[in-house]
Amino acid sequence: MATAHPLPRFPDGFLWGVSTSAHQIEGAAELRERSVWDAFTEQPGRVKDGSTAAVACDHYHRYREDVALLAGLGVNAYRFSVSWPRVLREDGLDFYDRLVDELCGAGIRPVPTLFHWDLPLALHEAGGWRERDTAERFAAYVARVAARLGDRVRQWITLNEPAEHTLLGHALGTHAPGERLMFDALPVAHHQLLAHGLAVRALRAAGAAEVGLTNSHGPTWPASPEPADTEAADFYDVLLNRMFAEPVLLGAYPEGIGELMPDGAADDLKIIAEPLDFYGVNYYAPTKVGAPQGAEIDFGGVRMPAELPFSVREIEDRPRTDFGWPVVPEGLTELLTGFRDRYGDRLPPVVVTENGCSYEGLDDQDRIAYLDGHLRALHEAVRAGVDVRGYFVWSLLDNFEWAEGYARRFGLVHVDYATLERTPKASYAWYRGFLFAQRRAG
Ligand code: NOJ
Repeated sequence: MATAHPLPRFPDGFLWGVSTSAHQIEGAAELRERSVWDAFTEQPGRVKDGSTAAVACDHYHRYREDVALLAGLGVNAYRFSVSWPRVLREDGLDFYDRLVDELCGAGIRPVPTLFHWDLPLALHEAGGWRERDTAERFAAYVARVAARLGDRVRQWITLNEPAEHTLLGHALGTHAPGERLMFDALPVAHHQLLAHGLAVRALRAAGAAEVGLTNSHGPTWPASPEPADTEAADFYDVLLNRMFAEPVLLGAYPEGIGELMPDGAADDLKIIAEPLDFYGVNYYAPTKVGAPQGAEIDFGGVRMPAELPFSVREIEDRPRTDFGWPVVPEGLTELLTGFRDRYGDRLPPVVVTENGCSYEGLDDQDRIAYLDGHLRALHEAVRAGVDVRGYFVWSLLDNFEWAEGYARRFGLVHVDYATLERTPKASYAWYRGFLFAQRRAG
């Protein structure tokens, strides 16, 4: 059984939390402006089960109940996102004001992310992330949020996974806004990174204590030692890992990328590389990559076009989540020690801002095994000397899983979408027990 051996003890002061995002849980769509995700989900065929996030978990109206679930779990931190389209409304910040008060009252540190993919639709229609102006607008919005919440929020995350938002949303078009720009999507990456850097400056000007960014990362495994496969894997690693880590950590794009970015990008790198207090990493699984196979392939539900200079292969002999993602806990140790080795002192303390899996059912022993394995792997990284400061499970609640709709259940708490009733799963009790043991040992 997964929990036969007690889990190791983590360093004092470790942040233990769970993560969510605004569009995936809040609902109350009529009380905010429209985002690219509203427009996308309304187009037939975009979301597998045809659903939208107009109601989602109705967290907007049930946040007190959800904060009580957090308190019952025993977490000391909660990562959520602020909806830019909601903040565009006169009273939009009132909701986050109430949420932050509720969290502080329960002794839980609020860790807001300022952009988790729900760009206001009007901004997208004016060019969105293809335009530099969107980065400036983002910084102005961030300054407004910080002015309102900064007296109670000490730790901030600028962006969530700009790599996925670029690749899935703008290059392949399987996420909102549904653009299929392929390599013409590179400015979208640059403008998000610029938005991050400008937001760091705005947050510091507002007195923020800790500022970071969340990138998704995973080890890239070449399909074989053949040069055609290792070159393809290196290319993938540049696109999904290095292109988003290195401008921020080193102030430079990987070789060959900077030239493809919009004019003035080189000057922006100074802004993008503003020093950070922590570096957020979302980890789910490694990716095995080989030479192109000349045909469309299915990668975790995403159709990858044949013209890409790499192909994603199946990782065999591993258990799989209901999403079909392989379960590879040691990939987390490999990722974090690899980052430490590659970036040395340039890597700030790491916070794992998401890790989790989709499984059906209330007695979710598979999720318990997944979390148990990944926490042990995280501890291995700590033992190997990586400065890790926190870990957040994705997610508190089952929620709207983007193009998959409600079919994928990542929550520690089950949501019945007909009644919106919340029911803690076996994994909720397990994580609570783990957190209790950590506190007792402390
Ligand atoms: C990463 C994203 O940040 C989050 O929105 C998503 O639900 C999870 N991964 C699971 O796919």
